Order: sequence, then C-alpha cells, then structure tokens
Amino acid sequence: MSAERGALAPDIAAAVAALRAGDLVAFPTETVYGLGADARNPDALRRVYALKGRPADHPLILHLASVAQLPQWVASVPEAALELARRHWPGPLTLVMPRAAGVSDVLTGGQNTIAVRVPAHPVARALLEAFDGGIAAPSANRYGHVSPTRAAHVREEFPSGIAVILEGGDCEVGLESTIVALDRTPARLLRPGAIGRVALEAVLGPIEVGADAAAPRVPGSTLQHYAPATPVALASAEEIDRRCRAVSASSATIAVLARRAPPPECAELEARGLWWRAPNEASGYARVLYAALRALDKCGAERILVERVPEDPEWDAARDRLQRAAATFI
Ligand code: TXA
Ligand code: MG
Repeated sequence: MSAERGALAPDIAAAVAALRAGDLVAFPTETVYGLGADARNPDALRRVYALKGRPADHPLILHLASVAQLPQWVASVPEAALELARRHWPGPLTLVMPRAAGVSDVLTGGQNTIAVRVPAHPVARALLEAFDGGIAAPSANRYGHVSPTRAAHVREEFPSGIAVILEGGDCEVGLESTIVALDRTPARLLRPGAIGRVALEAVLGPIEVGADAAAPRVPGSTLQHYAPATPVALASAEEIDRRCRAVSASSATIAVLARRAPPPECAELEARGLWWRAPNEASGYARVLYAALRALDKCGAERILVERVPEDPEWDAARDRLQRAAATFI
C-alpha cells in the first residue's frame, strides 16, 4: 500500500467509510476474496446473506486484526486456540469457539459458537487495522458457487451491491481456510485447507475429521458446493484421454482440467482453451483451481472433466472442493 505516513490509502479509507455506513466491501485475503460487513451491525450482516443468497442459518467467519481482540468475541479462549494462533495466525486457519455475550445471532446463524480468523493478506490487514473492529466475511460469491480468487471474479459475481471492491491481486493460497471446531473434545476438522491435519494434531492431539452429521452447519460441507454452472465430473487420466479422442471427431465439447499436457492427438484442445494444465503440486494447484474452473465454465463446453488428484494428505483441500464441485452430477 502506498499510504503517506499517517494517512490511509484512499481505497482503504473508502472501504472503512463504507463499513461504518453499514455497506458491504469486498477485500482480498490470502485464501479467497471476502464479502465484508461490520460484524457489530446486524442490518449490514443481513445484507451479506441477501446478496449471496445464503440461508440465514449458515454462519459467517469473523475476521480480526489480531489475537488480542479475541476476548471481545469469544466467551472463553481455549489455551489450544492461543497456541494455534501463535503458530498459524495471521494465516488460513479458522477457529470455532464459544461465542461471547452480545455477539449478534445474525453473525453466528443463531449458534452458540463463533468462527474467527486473522487473515495474512496485507490489504486485509490494512483494512482490519484501519476499521479497528471485526469484519464478518464469507467468500465473495453467490451461494454454492466457486469462490473468487481475484477482484475481477468478485465483479463478475456481483455487478452491483458492493460499495468498494479492494484490489489485491491473485490469492496466494486459493482455497478457503481450514476450519477447526475447538468447542468440543476431541476437536473436529470441519473443512480441510492449507493448514493440514498434521499441523493441527501437533497442537491438539488426535482430532476428528468431517462435518458433524448431527449439526450440518458448514455450508461448504453440504454436498453440492464450490460448483461452476457447467457440470463437473472427476475422471482418471486414462478416461479423460479416451473421452477427448472420442469427442475430437464430433461437434461435442468437453473442457478438461488436468495436471499434464493433452495427448498429442488432442493438442488442439489446449490451443482452443479447452484444456487447462494445472501444476502437479498441491499448493500450486490450489492457487489456480478456482480461476481454472471459472475459465473453463465460460468456454461453452457441455461438461468439465477434472483429472482426479492424488490421495496424499497435501491434496486433501483440493480433493474436498473438487468432490463438492462434482457432487450434483454423480
Ligand atoms: O478462507 C476463508 O475462510 C474465506 C475468507 C474470506 O476468509 N471465508 C469463507 O467464508 O470461506 P464462507 O462463509 O464461504 O465459509 C465460512 C464457513 C462456512 O462453511 C460456515 O458455515 C463456517 O465457516 N462457520 C462459520 N461459523 C461457524 C460456526 N460457528 N460453527 C461451524 N462452522 C462455522
Ligand atoms: Mg464460501
């Protein structure tokens, strides 16, 4: 940010003014772009649900500038939360804890817990520090759709309704934060992300994994989510090559997301933008996944075939999002 000493960058100042007025702002984080509202303003929070088309019982994540603000929002901060914060904040980790009195039901979807994270992106940090309060922010996409990883995606999702969209380049992580629930023992990993199970268990000991069947309160955990409009199917490399060869002679179109080049006889798919070659390494793949799905969604194909990713733990987050993107069609 090129702020003069003591003065806020104009875009940050405009975003803070919008938040104070109860309007919505979009801002970059290291995971995905967020759709932010003043977390102490229930009307502003309602606007977030309305714009996204999100059900009211699906709570929002609270973003803070620092761990020092936790006691204003969390009833009792477990020691393990402080240790996780020391290790991973600012960063792509969301902690679910008992909420403090006075926290809006609109923010928590009526639950007695609150989900909190301190993001690392410099623009998010500048905004949070200047606002000097909590910003509630789900991903800045319509409910169930692919999360945005650049400001242009946010403008595509919401041509209107957001007062200020802060520019922050491409998100470095590219997939939503890890969510871990600390309001129970053992703790439970609700959403896989860049902070993996091993890093969590180093602090928490053995944890449970997967959404809580008794309380399905993570919308990203509903089966269909993170989905482009074009049907997505997961397939092996062999199956993809077979399908590509079969359609190349016909007028049918498929688009492919793979971790390699197309077979030589299908090279024209790549030239036509119908074959997206993503990195064959988990963090690089995560960084481009949503931009790739958005691009392939626009190329007029009848179906997007995604090459299955490896079973190794570092691919957990990408595998989770791909399974949900494909869920309507299996
Ligand atoms: O990386 C991220 O977490 C991004 C950026 C903007 O920070 N945000 C994000 O928000 O992914 P959203 O709303 O798309 O997903 C938030 C998830 C939802 O699945 C929600 O149900 C869950 O957090 N969540 C929020 N409060 C919760 C709570 N009290 N208990 C369990 N899950 C909660
Ligand atoms: Mg989301």
